[in-house]
Amino acid sequence: MEIVILPSPAEVARKAADAIEQYVRRGPAVLGLATGSTPLGTYQELIERHRNSGLGFGQAQAFLLDEYVGLPAAHPQSYHSVIRDEFTDSVDFAAGAVHGLDGMAQDPQAEAAQYEERIAAAGGVDIQILGIGTDGHVGFNEPMSSLASRTRIKTLTRQTRKDNARFFDREQDVPDHVLTQGLGTIGQARHLLLLAMGAAKADAIAAAVEGPLAAICPASVLQLHPHVTVLVDEAAASKLTHQDYYRDTFSRKPAWQGL
Ligand code: PGA
Repeated sequence: MEIVILPSPAEVARKAADAIEQYVRRGPAVLGLATGSTPLGTYQELIERHRNSGLGFGQAQAFLLDEYVGLPAAHPQSYHSVIRDEFTDSVDFAAGAVHGLDGMAQDPQAEAAQYEERIAAAGGVDIQILGIGTDGHVGFNEPMSSLASRTRIKTLTRQTRKDNARFFDREQDVPDHVLTQGLGTIGQARHLLLLAMGAAKADAIAAAVEGPLAAICPASVLQLHPHVTVLVDEAAASKLTHQDYYRDTFSRKPAWQGL
């Protein structure tokens, strides 16, 4: 796990965009996209690079991490809509290249199994962007999710419903259930890029990075993955015990290694 502490959220966004750009420029990339507030700066940065320096997504495919159950794709808070509004409609993905889970599926278990098949048929995810919940979730894998879980239906914790209430008119409008890629599914992406900004994420980042591998902090499963980059601002890094070591290591990293 590589931990990179950056001076500001804007620097986190730039560095994340650098990592994604490297895959997109290399050939037909499969991107794992997250929604929520965390990746918005990264998407803005990628949109600017698309407009100003010809970064093209025409050969790329994308898979969303999760979706609310009970929201049709056209609902403004469905993750299908959110990702279109925040990113994919502003660049040049081909029609049908951005994949998401159907929150209205009659049979959510069949939908989940088919989603796994679609990811596999695309050759797997090259780089997966991840945010982290204040309760340590990644995707919508809430505490005590199996560390080996596959895509399935989950019930949101009260904490997550509170955290996400800002996107809805009322807290009770936040759906109870979601479909989410499992921790085992996410772990099959070849490169995981975990982003966190702000003091509200400091405890979750400390638990995920330096805490024990434990289902109480689902993001701690990233410790098992061979290629994880954690990009955090100063505030999100503030509860890490080994900050000096991470800073020193990154400052002396050979340029040819990249992220
Ligand atoms: P946020 O959510 O990016 O809106 O903070 C992160 C998450 O819940 O995974």
